[in-house]
Amino acid sequence: MLEILDLPRQSAVGFGTSATACGLSCLSAARSSLLTSLGWDFENDGLIGAPEIRVVIPDTAHITVKKALRILGFGLNRIVYAPTDEYGRVDPAQLPAIDERTILCLQAGEVNTGEFDPFNEIIPMVKKAGAWVHVDGAFGLWARASKNSKHLTSGIDGADNWTTDGHKWLNTPYDGAIAICRDKDALARAMNSDAAYSTASASAQKNLSLEFSGRARGIPIWAALRTLGKDGVADMIDQHIRQAKYVASELQDLGYDVLNRVVLNQVLVRAERDEITQSIIEAAQSTGRVWFGATVWQNRLAFRISFSSWRTNDAHVERLMKVLAELYH
Ligand SMILES: Cc1ncc(COP(=O)(O)O)c(C=O)c1O
Repeated sequence: MLEILDLPRQSAVGFGTSATACGLSCLSAARSSLLTSLGWDFENDGLIGAPEIRVVIPDTAHITVKKALRILGFGLNRIVYAPTDEYGRVDPAQLPAIDERTILCLQAGEVNTGEFDPFNEIIPMVKKAGAWVHVDGAFGLWARASKNSKHLTSGIDGADNWTTDGHKWLNTPYDGAIAICRDKDALARAMNSDAAYSTASASAQKNLSLEFSGRARGIPIWAALRTLGKDGVADMIDQHIRQAKYVASELQDLGYDVLNRVVLNQVLVRAERDEITQSIIEAAQSTGRVWFGATVWQNRLAFRISFSSWRTNDAHVERLMKVLAELYH
C-alpha cells in the first residue's frame, strides 16, 4: 500500500470496513496525538477538562467525514468550515486560523468534481503551525498510482494520515478500506485493544482499526494489487481519467453544461433546467444500459458520471454517449 500510494514508508496501515470507519480511526488518532503533545492523556483522562481541539474541514467535505467527527464528539456546530473555490478545493487564502490544537481535514478527490486540495500550498504551512493533517482520499488517493495524473496529489505525503478505499477505485469487493497513519504509535494507541487473553504487537490489525475480530481485509486488497501490478493499477486509473475527459468534451459538443474541468474520473453535468436534468437522469437509468446518479452542485441539480469499474471499456463509453445524445434532443 505504502509503495503504490507512495506514502511515508514508516506509516501504520490498518485495514477496516470503509473509508467512514478508517476515517474515524484516523481522526481519533489525530485527536489523541495532538492532546498528547499538549500534555493531556486522552486515552485515560478522556475529553472532560481536555484542551479544546478545533477541527477545520472543507465546506465540500464528504458527509462521512462529518459523521466520523460527530461520533467522536466534535459537534457539527463547532466544526470550522474552510471556504472552497469554484472547483471545490480549499482556498489557501481563506484558510481559517490553524494552530497546534487544530485537525485540518483535506480531500483527495472531491466527491462531485474529483478535485484535490492544494496540498503543496497548505500542508507545509499548517504543519509549521503544529496542526494535524488528515486526508480523505476514499477514491482520489488512487491518483497517486497514476502515471499521468500523480501530480494532482503533489505534496499529499506531507500529511499525517490518509484514508482510502479498496472497494471503490481499486475494485475490490465491499468492505475493504485502508487507514494510513505516519505515526504508527498514534494509531496503535488510539485503536489499542489488547486484552489479557489476546495481546498482540502494535502492528496487529486489531490495534490499527476499529474491529477486534474481523476477516483479513488486507487479502483482497493484496490480491488486487498482485493481479494488476503497479502498471495495471496505473493503467486502470489513467483509462478512467481519459474516459471521463473524453465524455466531458463530447457532452459539451452536444450542448450539455459540464460543470467541472475534469481532472479525475468525475464528470459533473446538467441541462439548461433542473426539470430536464432530472428527466435525463431518470430516463438514462431506466434504459438499464448506463447508470449515473443525481447530485447538487452550487445549488443546482446535476448528474455525476463516475468512471471506476475495471470493466468499463470504450464501447461502454460510446454507449453512454449514444444514450445521452438521444436523451438531450
Ligand atoms: C470522498 C469520499 N469520502 C468518503 C467516502 C465514504 O466511503 P465509504 O463508503 O467507504 O465509507 C466516500 C464514499 O462515497 C467518498 O466518496
